[in-house]
Amino acid sequence: MCGIIACVGSDDAVDTVLTGLKNLEYRGYDSAGLAIQNGTDLIVRKRAGKISDLTGGFARELPQGIAGIGHTRWSTHGPPTDANAHPHTSASGDVAVVHNGIISNYESLRSELAEMGYLFTSDTDTEVIPHLVERYLDAGFDTDGAFRKTIERLEGSYAIALMIEGEEAVRAARQGSPLVVGLHDDAYYLASDVPAFLEFTDEVIYLEDGDMVTVESGSLSITDVAGNPITREIDTVDWDPEETGKGGYEHYMLKEIENQPESLSNTIRGRIDPEEPAIHLEGFPRGCFSDVSEVHFVACGTSYHAALYGARLLEEANVRVRVSRASEFTGRIPDPAGTLVVPVTQSGETADTLGALRQAGVAGARTLAVTNVVGSTVAREADEVLYIRAGPEIGVAATKTFSSQVVTLTLLAERLKQDVDGGDGRENLGTLLRDLSVLPDQIEEVIRTSRAEALSSNYSDRDAYFFIGHGLQHPVALEGALKFKEITYEHAEGFASGELKHGPLALITPGTPVFALFDGKHDDKTHTNAKEAQARGAEIIAITASEGTAAFADEVLVIPDTHPDLSGLLANVQLQFVSYYTARLLGRPIDKPRNLAKSVTVE
Ligand code: G6P
Repeated sequence: MCGIIACVGSDDAVDTVLTGLKNLEYRGYDSAGLAIQNGTDLIVRKRAGKISDLTGGFARELPQGIAGIGHTRWSTHGPPTDANAHPHTSASGDVAVVHNGIISNYESLRSELAEMGYLFTSDTDTEVIPHLVERYLDAGFDTDGAFRKTIERLEGSYAIALMIEGEEAVRAARQGSPLVVGLHDDAYYLASDVPAFLEFTDEVIYLEDGDMVTVESGSLSITDVAGNPITREIDTVDWDPEETGKGGYEHYMLKEIENQPESLSNTIRGRIDPEEPAIHLEGFPRGCFSDVSEVHFVACGTSYHAALYGARLLEEANVRVRVSRASEFTGRIPDPAGTLVVPVTQSGETADTLGALRQAGVAGARTLAVTNVVGSTVAREADEVLYIRAGPEIGVAATKTFSSQVVTLTLLAERLKQDVDGGDGRENLGTLLRDLSVLPDQIEEVIRTSRAEALSSNYSDRDAYFFIGHGLQHPVALEGALKFKEITYEHAEGFASGELKHGPLALITPGTPVFALFDGKHDDKTHTNAKEAQARGAEIIAITASEGTAAFADEVLVIPDTHPDLSGLLANVQLQFVSYYTARLLGRPIDKPRNLAKSVTVE
């Protein structure tokens, strides 16, 4: 969902901005551009396509300089063309702006500026910003004054970085879209997300809505929109820059699938004691949820599937629970005093999820964010936060973060069950935690032994792909189908096993692959419904720990035996491989699927 980067004081701004853009490309890849202050002129280069199209197209004519801004775009207003690529400039070319977000009042601003004679050359909402800045410069304001006047006129969401001809400085502002400052000696960086500049520094300042920043070589100032100075804390990020590279893998997605033993070990480290048995969730001691009578999850995409998983665990334990797609959340909470609203979001920046969180806050409910990104907007706005600790995820298709979300929610569900229904659940807890402690090793075993690559080559030519599961396997089936459609572009649907006969069975034709998930607990319906599909020509690929269960199946992907509450995580790794290898066979751009972006910061 668009990524912005800026730097001042680095030796080679072009190199730094391009590195930042490559690191941010997962946020959008329709077009890219940069503006560099080369000491005398403000030079802008931009074009439709990926970052490599930008560097390839201008390889010999990229300018030198010590200050620059850059942008990688996921289109909202206007198609991905050279003209719509950022930076956008004023008519004189003296003001260059990159922007992430949506200016909701851009139409009225555009008419006003057009009437005043300012000429527009793109379809974007962003272009009003450089024209507004120029309008106030023309009216006699200095740069700070013109930028401040401009910000006062904007409605909607934005992270903006701006450069002015002749000034080796970058000005920025944040309202509703993420913006982080990085600091290293005399150099400063500004970006939508920390991985953009992680190889240059791990010292960061998370800006708040309403903050305005000016960075020059050796100087940083943060103010509010009125110009009053603001002090913000410097944090140190503990992500390793190596984690944001491909590490020799062909794709980030494959690296991230195979990183799951490590990322899951991080998720559970220090949080489980199988012998006691006990759960230690930092900040959430026993009894902290004793006033909760209902849990309401809000999430989108893969995170929504993780939330469905968590909700099913609570439902089976008789805890009142609801799950809403964040974009469909009505904000109505019948019992705000007793309701815990849990936004689940990898990035912590998804606009739909943030919207739901804010509505829950207005309704007066307690909010607890489950997220991966420290310092993200959701982490700062929720009352409480529980981190999934998966490390940076770059591939647009979420993989390791789903596993870490599900495991974090499993632990949260156990704590909620203890507090809400008063039982200590020790018997089941001991078995669950023992199996959880060896889950990373079992995922390693799946990675070593999976037959998914060979199997995918037999099935990559079909018209449609179905995924079915019952109980906890239902969200895994939905996630399997989402992953498959996201990166293969083939038609894929996930269903509750029992629903197949209520409509989708009409879509089954000879040879349709149906991936059926078995966990040893919720298997009867899946067994019956898979056989019904098979009787109509479907080919059943069973994912199971029990070869006996799968005797009827056409193919089997075996997973190690574990607690039924965790089995879906092992099955999901097999499905991640099936999607990955099918997409690779079909020649798809796996890490950057068409039309998608990793972090969607507009509603
Ligand atoms: C986008 C991504 C999905 C992701 C969803 C929610 O649509 O393409 O992969 O699941 O956003 O993201 P979040 O950061 O809130 O988990």
